Amino acid sequence: MGDFTHVLEAQQFPREWLEGFFPLVRSMKADVRCGGHTDLAGKRMMTVFYEPSTRTRASFESAMWLSGGIVSFATENAREFSSAVKGETLEDTIRILNGYHPHVIVLRYHEEGGAQRAAQISRVPIVNAGDGTGQHPTQALLDIFTIQEELGGIDGISIALVGDLNRGRTVRSLAYLLGKFEGIHIHLVSPPSLKIRQDMKDYLDRHHVPYEEHTDLREVADKVDVVYQTRTQWERGPQERDETSSFCRVNQEVLELMRPRAIIMHPLPRNEEIDPCIDSDPRAAYFRQAENGLYVRMALLKRILTG
Ligand code: CP
Repeated sequence: MGDFTHVLEAQQFPREWLEGFFPLVRSMKADVRCGGHTDLAGKRMMTVFYEPSTRTRASFESAMWLSGGIVSFATENAREFSSAVKGETLEDTIRILNGYHPHVIVLRYHEEGGAQRAAQISRVPIVNAGDGTGQHPTQALLDIFTIQEELGGIDGISIALVGDLNRGRTVRSLAYLLGKFEGIHIHLVSPPSLKIRQDMKDYLDRHHVPYEEHTDLREVADKVDVVYQTRTQWERGPQERDETSSFCRVNQEVLELMRPRAIIMHPLPRNEEIDPCIDSDPRAAYFRQAENGLYVRMALLKRILTG
């Protein structure tokens, strides 16, 4: 798969690679409509998740089955149901699993840098399925594919990244990918205590991506092609009570401000930051986005396992 083996961070995907990847994703979608394919027959995937997941784990495992491969080991809540509970390190776990001959290991870890640590040990590809407040590169792939399919292109779009920009790993990974396209304008909308970190702003500056910071989504709802909403990562610690000075929800009021062809995305799961009353609006793209995760992960596994 080009000049990389592991999938660790969104920055590793060049624009040219993404442009070659999108047609493969579309072909996976067509294959699934016909019951899948057998391109990964004989290939074995392990999923090791130290944090909860519905979409990422289910879509990776379904992707493997629909491609003719097998899931040879699947651990959910590994902090409780693996030997991590007996004090085994991530490095030792990865070393042991390598001995059982998987072809790829999909890892979600609760601390930033977990996938990099695993990749230093592993003889087989590690796919970062989310590492704490670090990154979620396969989510970014499905997000950028969704933008491409929904809007017909990525260059020149204006996007609002909304919510917990400080601890949300999906916005970090997506911002890294957006930096590879031309004419992107980013509006960063968050409560003051959940602003995006300085390293991301430095990256956007280096890639000449203009951005502005806001605390009220209503200020920018009519200016963007994409509202990318995220939830507060309450499981990563308490949030300062500054929500009263901000407005970071998508509701009927925001929908009425939005452009007719704009879309609303969310990596999901959602809490109260998207009102379910807008689900039936055609601009609500988040369930289509989640489904794209299956096709994107099928295509990614094919790239990793067959070149
Ligand atoms: N978007 C996402 O990563 O969802 P899960 O946590 O359910 O995998």
